[in-house]
Amino acid sequence: MKKIIAGNWKQNGKHKTSIQLVKNIITGTKKNKCKHEIIIFPPSIYLSSLQSIVNKSDVKIGAQNVSAFNDGAFTGEISSSMLKDTKIQYCLVGHSERRHVFNESPDMLFEKVIRLFENNIKVIYCIGETLEQFKNKKTKSILNAQVKKIFNKLKIKSTNIIIAYEPVWAIGTGLVPSDKDLIDAFKYIRNTINKFNPAYKSIKILYGGSVSPENANSLMKTPHMDGLLIGGASLNAKKFIDICSTI
Ligand code: 13P
Repeated sequence: MKKIIAGNWKQNGKHKTSIQLVKNIITGTKKNKCKHEIIIFPPSIYLSSLQSIVNKSDVKIGAQNVSAFNDGAFTGEISSSMLKDTKIQYCLVGHSERRHVFNESPDMLFEKVIRLFENNIKVIYCIGETLEQFKNKKTKSILNAQVKKIFNKLKIKSTNIIIAYEPVWAIGTGLVPSDKDLIDAFKYIRNTINKFNPAYKSIKILYGGSVSPENANSLMKTPHMDGLLIGGASLNAKKFIDICSTI
């Protein structure tokens, strides 16, 4: 099965460096015959420009964020219909920085998912526990609540959603969960989703948090892991291409 390798650039880069980075990724992954699906999430101001560059390649462009509202008086926001208009096919929802830095509530994230589905944009729905929750052995109950928030009320087409498990304490810290903790978490997420509908077994689950060319291969041996969501290492063409080529 095709894996997904996604690069979340966050709030980094300039227009010129972003164009160069995406061009390098297109050429490098083609040269190395990367067999996986590659999705890049640049800052929103560069979406349109980068979308025109990836047009004829296998690399796809996604948005890091979207408004919870339809078009209207919402200064500073970008709607899901604008993403659709720009031919963007994917959008992140629920990233830990949106949840914890911008205090986006579960209800707001739910609305974002609905707006994206209305516009046929695939959702990469991020879930994960904080360090304190991890230390207090709350990981499973947190994952359960975050998954249920979306799956309880919505009828979802399996191909329209991807889950990304990103423990908050592993993001940008150089820390990754132990093999045992990762195996447990992935098994738990898989079982929780499958309980809603047997068809959901085809929903892909990614891992994110301090992924590097050094640990990507062994992380990907985790059962039920269908790909990676990469932050820091996706800003470096060589590291990102190395990760795409080694798994
Ligand atoms: P890092 O790979 O920098 O830890 O970031 C992970 C992440 O937040 C991807 O969305």
